[in-house]
Amino acid sequence: MNIKNKITELFSIEHPIIQAGMVWTSGWRLASAVAECGGLGLIGAGSMKADLLKEHIQKCRRATAKSFGVNIPLLREDASGLIDVVISEGVKIVFTSAGHPGKFIEILKKNDVKVVHVVPSLKYALKAESVGCDAVVGEGVEAGGHNGIDELTTFALIPQISDALKIPVIAAGGIADGRGILAAFALGAQAVQIGTRFAVTIESSAHAKYKERICKAKDNDTVLLLKRIGPLRTIKNDFTSDLIKAELAGADEESLRQLLGKKREREGIFEGDEKNGLMEAGQGAGLIRNIPTVKELFFELLEQYDKACMKILKFDLIE
Ligand SMILES: Cc1cc2nc3c(=O)[nH]c(=O)nc-3n(C[C@H](O)[C@H](O)[C@H](O)COP(=O)(O)O)c2cc1C
Repeated sequence: MNIKNKITELFSIEHPIIQAGMVWTSGWRLASAVAECGGLGLIGAGSMKADLLKEHIQKCRRATAKSFGVNIPLLREDASGLIDVVISEGVKIVFTSAGHPGKFIEILKKNDVKVVHVVPSLKYALKAESVGCDAVVGEGVEAGGHNGIDELTTFALIPQISDALKIPVIAAGGIADGRGILAAFALGAQAVQIGTRFAVTIESSAHAKYKERICKAKDNDTVLLLKRIGPLRTIKNDFTSDLIKAELAGADEESLRQLLGKKREREGIFEGDEKNGLMEAGQGAGLIRNIPTVKELFFELLEQYDKACMKILKFDLIE
């Protein structure tokens, strides 16, 4: 892969491959390993308090001299405190999600921070561009974790936002190998954000049982839950069956939130509770069969990408 474009320039990276910020998964170890391989690593602040985020940023900086960023889900009540940490620690790349970046863009820009917002539809992509974001991540419903209510797929979403926006588009959702990366470029993306595949690496802080469960996943082992109150893609288990039963029985928002509780992601991803926790993962889980180091994974992704390019060239010759 030898690609130089707006995204590699924006973040000063070698490869347009971004490791998604993920709760309980992407701390300094994962983000710095990705940076060392020439991609962009993101520390996932969604499961961190301000002090812990500060510690991870400082450890990441000690582990790599290359650039890295922080993902901040804006639904966090203390989002502005996390943004203060990012600014005071001198981080220059922030990916925001789950909320509206408009509230924070001025302070981030004033401090020379590149801001990328995660969007599930064209409407939100245009909004992100209009408030001054430097790029957007278009995230299809195949993605692990929280999703948009319109359930647009990566294949349908990326070309539509690429056509409409002037700022560069990063594709996310269902990309788990080099073929997916090439397909994203064909759809108009200038980079990819990969989540589940990076969650299943040695440097990911997810529990071994989470990683092993993904390695055994079939194509249809994930489910999109809570479509009415905030869609979430996760591995099917006893708890998701209970939640679906409650949804079908017409449970109201309050009861669903009570059943959900506040610790399910931690229990599933970080503590490895396969039955009662939420093991967030994307539909691409069925493509993941090993637990490599980040370095091995980069080698795999780049090799698969090159092979896919050669295959497409051959199609051309046959035609
Ligand atoms: C375990 C897990 C945790 C996630 N946590 C977050 C998060 O904290 N913030 C966020 O913006 N997205 C989060 N996501 C979504 C990812 O950032 C990314 O966009 C998504 O995983 C891409 O789809 P993929 O899983 O098919 O690669 C999470 C995804 C997973 C699998």
